[in-house]
Amino acid sequence: MSEYLPGLAGVPATKSNISDIDGEKGILAYRGYSIEELALESTFEETTLLLLDGELPTAAALAEFDQEVRHNRKVKYQIRDLMKTLPARGHPMEMLQTAIASLGMFYPGNECLTGSDICEDLNYVHNMTVKIIARMGTIVAMWEHIRNGYDPVTPRDDLTYAENYLYMLIGREPDPELARILDLCLVLHAEHTINASTFAVLVTASTLSSPYSVIAAAIGTLAGPLHGGANEKVVEMLREVGSPSNAAAYIDKRLANKEVIWGMGHREYKTKDPRAKILESEVNKLVETRGEVNPLFETAKAVEKVCEDRLGAKGVYPNVDFYSGVLYLEMGIPVDQFTCLFAVSRAAGWLAHWREQLGDNRIFRPTQVYTGGSNRKYVPIEQRG
Ligand code: COA
Repeated sequence: MSEYLPGLAGVPATKSNISDIDGEKGILAYRGYSIEELALESTFEETTLLLLDGELPTAAALAEFDQEVRHNRKVKYQIRDLMKTLPARGHPMEMLQTAIASLGMFYPGNECLTGSDICEDLNYVHNMTVKIIARMGTIVAMWEHIRNGYDPVTPRDDLTYAENYLYMLIGREPDPELARILDLCLVLHAEHTINASTFAVLVTASTLSSPYSVIAAAIGTLAGPLHGGANEKVVEMLREVGSPSNAAAYIDKRLANKEVIWGMGHREYKTKDPRAKILESEVNKLVETRGEVNPLFETAKAVEKVCEDRLGAKGVYPNVDFYSGVLYLEMGIPVDQFTCLFAVSRAAGWLAHWREQLGDNRIFRPTQVYTGGSNRKYVPIEQRG
């Protein structure tokens, strides 16, 4: 029997050529391109195509894909009406999971996925990929209006992905600098090897379920606070800390109570997450441009310093979620939409893994170490003590 490793730590779950992490050096690359270079040079649309196809697209291929995504932004009125029936106080990640799963009822066709080595209908795979990527951002932005009792803003096809999300969220022309930052955030969150939600993608995809079920499973997995939900928790925690001068006492108390510090630590990274460095520098730039002091950002930096001292020896440093919430808040995005934005972006990586899994599929069926009893005799209920 092979050794049981809790959380499958260090156990390869698949072979993949989509992204790679060097956790000791703090390096992340998509298809061999460093995250720093993509953050600087690429856009969410281009990065998505890179993740899906494996190559940087030509100008013509990018324009074609971009047009397809723009033309698929609208959702059917039934989805909008379904969203209107959901409780306004419910978490937007549950709304997103529901809406995406429901889309599958409108776009059937997964019977073309045969489970053979090569996915037989690349058109289906491509069309569903475009539909999901295009609609994720729309649905998240729509929710902000629906939950406040208004009709959603209609998406526009003359805007980039990031611009359209901001336009739909606030209902007016987006600020170009905020659109640039959001685009960069979408690039940074688009893919991250076999994390919990991507593993959920592989497992669901391996049964030949529809891509809507695949992405709904991934959204549910991302929502947890140990995964994508941490960005919301970080902001909650920083508000509790209150000011930089409280950081040491707050962290020490949490650690003494054996509570995790949100936004810190990672299974793969033993140093600061490269995405956290980029996000921190973006908050810095935005705050400086506005000529303000952002108390939450000051508190975050103080918390990072204390954590470096208390947890650095364990290899626990800021992960992607530590500064993303502070940045989104500064951009005016509602706190409970942070994880949704993570999902909007990660849909690109999830769908690349869906496609990769279909290309060489075998159903996931791990084993277990049984720790229960055996040969027990059934006792009728009236004889049980
Ligand atoms: N706060 C305090 N201690 C932490 C920590 C954190 N955020 N993350 C890890 N550690 C400590 C663990 O307690 C453990 O200490 P020990 O060796 O004394 O028992 C050690 O560091 C190793 O951590 P481990 O629990 O093995 O890490 P993991 O790989 O199982 O878990 C996370 C990884 C991400 C779930 C974990 O770091 C965490 O809970 N982080 C906070 C949630 C978060 O930000 N999630 C977003 C991830 S992108």
